[in-house]
Amino acid sequence: MLFEARGLTKRFGGLTAVSDVSFGIDEGEIIGIFGPNGSGKTTTLSLIAGMLAPTAGDLVWQGQGIVGRRPFEIAEMGIVKTFQNPQLFPELTVLDHMRIASHLGFKRALGARRLFTLVWPWAAADIESGADAKMKDMLHLCRLTEARNEKAAALSYGAEKMLGVAMAMMCDPKLLLLDEPASGLGQEEIVNLEAVLRDLRAHGVTLCIIDHKVGFLGRLADRSIALAHGAMIAQGATRDVLASDAVVEAYLGRKHA
Ligand SMILES: Nc1ncnc2c1ncn2[C@@H]1O[C@H](COP(=O)(O)OP(=O)(O)OP(=O)(O)O)[C@@H](O)[C@H]1O
Ligand SMILES: [Mg+2]
Repeated sequence: MLFEARGLTKRFGGLTAVSDVSFGIDEGEIIGIFGPNGSGKTTTLSLIAGMLAPTAGDLVWQGQGIVGRRPFEIAEMGIVKTFQNPQLFPELTVLDHMRIASHLGFKRALGARRLFTLVWPWAAADIESGADAKMKDMLHLCRLTEARNEKAAALSYGAEKMLGVAMAMMCDPKLLLLDEPASGLGQEEIVNLEAVLRDLRAHGVTLCIIDHKVGFLGRLADRSIALAHGAMIAQGATRDVLASDAVVEAYLGRKHA
């Protein structure tokens, strides 16, 4: 198993945002996380990515406990999270954003050679050209090649979100955590996003995706978990999770179930 959450719990004062949640993710899977507003979905991903510390429970990545690691360490280990709303710099172009995002991969690729670049700056050149090639690949994969010189302020919301994904990909994730990638997108943009996410999986990235859109995530996710009030109310094949009484009730109320 690539990743496992065991008894994951997060309390904010008197509020239990995530309550004793356990699930695993296998390499190459697409896992969906469903649940009504405030059910603990974003908190769960933030805990996995190290942006929040759990109140209780374990997070195991490739057999190793990662609770207490800093977000950048977790990103370096291969777990990267995108934000519900990408925070972009309006005056910077798509390429500028990609250059900023390539920083982490650049540092890692250099490793010990980083020291030499202090003395011989050209030692970094081959790695920089490698980063350029990766940037091109990721822009292509995320359907952003034509928009590469656009300022972020001029991008459609769909393209903004795609840029968030492309930037995350520059960090070489093994597990990519996506917080509502399809929210606010039109039908055409959603079809586009679906194709991009399938391509990422084909590139060997494991995906864990939060979304409310039953059609979108229903088609995409092999397995899903559903949360309500922080607790896991269903898990299994996405089709079964979406059809379960507990999930229908959580979204629509008891009388519909
Ligand atoms: N930093 C925080 N401090 C206090 N309470 C928080 C904090 N972050 C989240 N919460 C609360 O924890 C609960 C779960 O929030 P979370 O953002 O994880 O829900 P969500 O399922 O992602 O909701 P949405 O679908 O609206 O994005 C909510 O009641 C929220 O108000
Ligand atoms: Mg959320």
